[in-house]
Amino acid sequence: MRESQRYEVMERHLIETFIKEIRWLFRYNRSMKLIYNSSELVTTLGGPQRGHQLGALEIIPNGAVAIQGESILEVGTSETLLEKYPNAEKIDAKQKAIVPGFVDPHTHLVWAGNRANEYEMRLQGKSYMEIMAAGGGIAATVNATRKASLDELVAQAMERTTRAFAYGTTTMEAKSGYGLDLETEFRQLEAVLEINKAGLIELVPTYMGAHAIPAEFKGDTPGFTRWLCEVALPETKKWWLSHAPGQDLPFVDVFCEKDVFEIEETREILQAAKDLGFPLKLHADEFENLGGASLGAEFGAASVDHLVKTSLKDIEKMAQGDIVAVSLPGTPFGLAQSEYTPAREIIEANGYLAIATDLNPGTTWNESMQFMQALATRYLKLTPGQALAAATINAAKAILRDTTIGSLEAGKQADLLILSVNDYRNLSYRYGTNMVAKVIKKGQVYPQA
Ligand code: NIG
Ligand code: FE
Repeated sequence: MRESQRYEVMERHLIETFIKEIRWLFRYNRSMKLIYNSSELVTTLGGPQRGHQLGALEIIPNGAVAIQGESILEVGTSETLLEKYPNAEKIDAKQKAIVPGFVDPHTHLVWAGNRANEYEMRLQGKSYMEIMAAGGGIAATVNATRKASLDELVAQAMERTTRAFAYGTTTMEAKSGYGLDLETEFRQLEAVLEINKAGLIELVPTYMGAHAIPAEFKGDTPGFTRWLCEVALPETKKWWLSHAPGQDLPFVDVFCEKDVFEIEETREILQAAKDLGFPLKLHADEFENLGGASLGAEFGAASVDHLVKTSLKDIEKMAQGDIVAVSLPGTPFGLAQSEYTPAREIIEANGYLAIATDLNPGTTWNESMQFMQALATRYLKLTPGQALAAATINAAKAILRDTTIGSLEAGKQADLLILSVNDYRNLSYRYGTNMVAKVIKKGQVYPQA
């Protein structure tokens, strides 16, 4: 053999060894996991679902998920993936269902205090808006929240996120709005940043300084609106850029409602927020129809939420604008009202429908996206499959995260649930108990074995 030929053989040998080692490393990579032996793996494919597409599910009997680090590598049958990844760390789903982690796109997570007294007043016939006008409601929570330290806010919010996580919520939007002054609003946003650092649930922040008119501006809504536009929003942007460098700006949300921020004031605040580059959300039509949903569509908000008193015209505007309509069925339920979001009309208009908890101390203190699915099937008349899609992929769109979370597809974040039941429809059929056995967040399994 000539010298040059010998080199060629050696070189080939070296390359082959190198490839083998890489394969070996890949197979033995300890961050590789395989969740297998499910009764069914249930997901949506191909992004958010509008109109009658809602609830088109991909169901893989005996499905499995291969996870590399924080991401999904592959979804398939257990047979195929066990053969393909024989050396991955294996997690047996024990013939229970696997679904995507729930996304809760509307919560008022950070607050102090408790309004059980107001609940009793409501039972005696006082309305939510009457209690608010008499200085209770949001104002009562603002007083308690202004007095609370950062540590207290973090501790109380953490208790709620821990419960939500155990009930399957892997990503949650979280609003400020119980400070109404700069200092307390920033403390609420700081609590959100602190909880994010702790891991587990992932929070998506929203600044909601326009949640109510504070005592300092009582009777002067135009003055407070001006202060929000000229002082609070620019200061919030500054605060955010220095406290959360590199992170996306929070959403800005406004409570557009009669006797709170009416259409013209809401328009001013949305315009100021948009000019500063904030992504937008809106509370509209919770108690009265002011046309807020159309306004949200005009501004290209990511979502408009509540939507109980919404007109057909508003519904069409939202659908045309690709705005996600977020229904909060816990709120009419919590207020013992009989009217819910006209979900069938939203679907008929080819709109995007999502559901959320609205977790807050006034109208609905509940952390469970499972319970929201149970309510959505009963009062919004969704099928269990539609409720699941509304709680996952469409909810992800409502917070502009649908390309990274909300479904089980290769390349997406590994956020998924192993249920304690073998049929996903139990999530709607049953209620009030937890049907999540294990939560997998960014590839980590909780509770750990
Ligand atoms: O979304 N409507 C405004 N905000 C909350 C209630 C806040 C409260 O009562 O503390 C909601 O229902
Ligand atoms: Fe709300």
